Amino acid sequence: MLTKSAAKTFFLGGTALCSIAFVLLTMDTLAQFPDRSNQENMTPAVVRGNHIWTKNNCMGCHTLMGEGAYYAPELTKVMDRRSPEWIAEFLKDPERMYPGRRKMVKYDMFDPAEVGAEEAKKNVDDIVAFFTWVGEIDLNGFPAEPDLAQAPRAQAVDVAPSSNLAKAPVYFSTVCIGCHSVGGQGGQVGPALDGVASRLDAEFMRKWISDPQSVKADTTMPDLGLEGDDLEAILDYLATLKE
Ligand code: HEC
Ligand code: HEC
Repeated sequence: MLTKSAAKTFFLGGTALCSIAFVLLTMDTLAQFPDRSNQENMTPAVVRGNHIWTKNNCMGCHTLMGEGAYYAPELTKVMDRRSPEWIAEFLKDPERMYPGRRKMVKYDMFDPAEVGAEEAKKNVDDIVAFFTWVGEIDLNGFPAEPDLAQAPRAQAVDVAPSSNLAKAPVYFSTVCIGCHSVGGQGGQVGPALDGVASRLDAEFMRKWISDPQSVKADTTMPDLGLEGDDLEAILDYLATLKE
């Protein structure tokens, strides 16, 4: 049994010790901010991207660093799974990329047809700069690594120079690859495209890629509006994917 004065000493000593530990830990946290907050990379483009993010209430649907609403995907590490080209293509007209699914708003500021190519590109570049900056903040492992085998991926990692994917046009290896794989690399939303030229004839592929819904009304393959040289380059490439 403690005496009254021993109890008092115990209480005061314990409080003092905990207070000191609290102050030291707070100082340690504050000292780590400059290293972890990635603030030295906060360029004007990042700041403009942040304005786009806050002004348009993207957080009304998305979370960033866990903050926001849970309707749409967490975007803290979006640049790990999406290329800037994919994001530009997606933001131009989000519904087109995911026909018949949950809807992301179409913002005119990202659509060259609405605000002109230069303005749309600047806005996309700014939001991409912002996402890139957020993705590089040291968040102690948040968010947990997703199961990438299940997730669509638009970043072709470590493509062997001799692989079929290395010969793909940029549009293919940055946008189509988000849903399709070649040689085991890429997304699994659509079928793997290895050997596709042995399965499908060239005319069918032309029709399919330029307007999938005209071939199969309820397909979830997006109509990406490809035409001209971009379309020809993709078709030439697909023709090389033989069994
Ligand atoms: C009304 C809700 C809503 C708002 C507001 C919204 N989004 Fe989205 N967003 C979505 C949904 C839903 C998806 C997922 C589409 C799907 O998978 O079908 C999405 C997907 C995305 C993706 C692709 C993520 C991935 O991993 O594929 C990006 C990038 C994105 N949104 C950026 C933005 C930006 C930038 C803003 C603000 C300018 C914004 N969103 C505002 C609903 C929203
Ligand atoms: C958002 C995901 C998505 C993107 C991006 C996408 N596709 Fe697809 N693709 C699909 C899906 C899903 C299917 C299967 C559709 C079906 O059967 O209804 C498909 C089917 C195909 C097929 C037919 C394959 C087969 O074996 O039957 C080809 C070829 C194809 N896509 C090429 C492309 C090319 C080239 C691009 C880029 C220009 C592209 N896709 C972009 C989702 C996507």
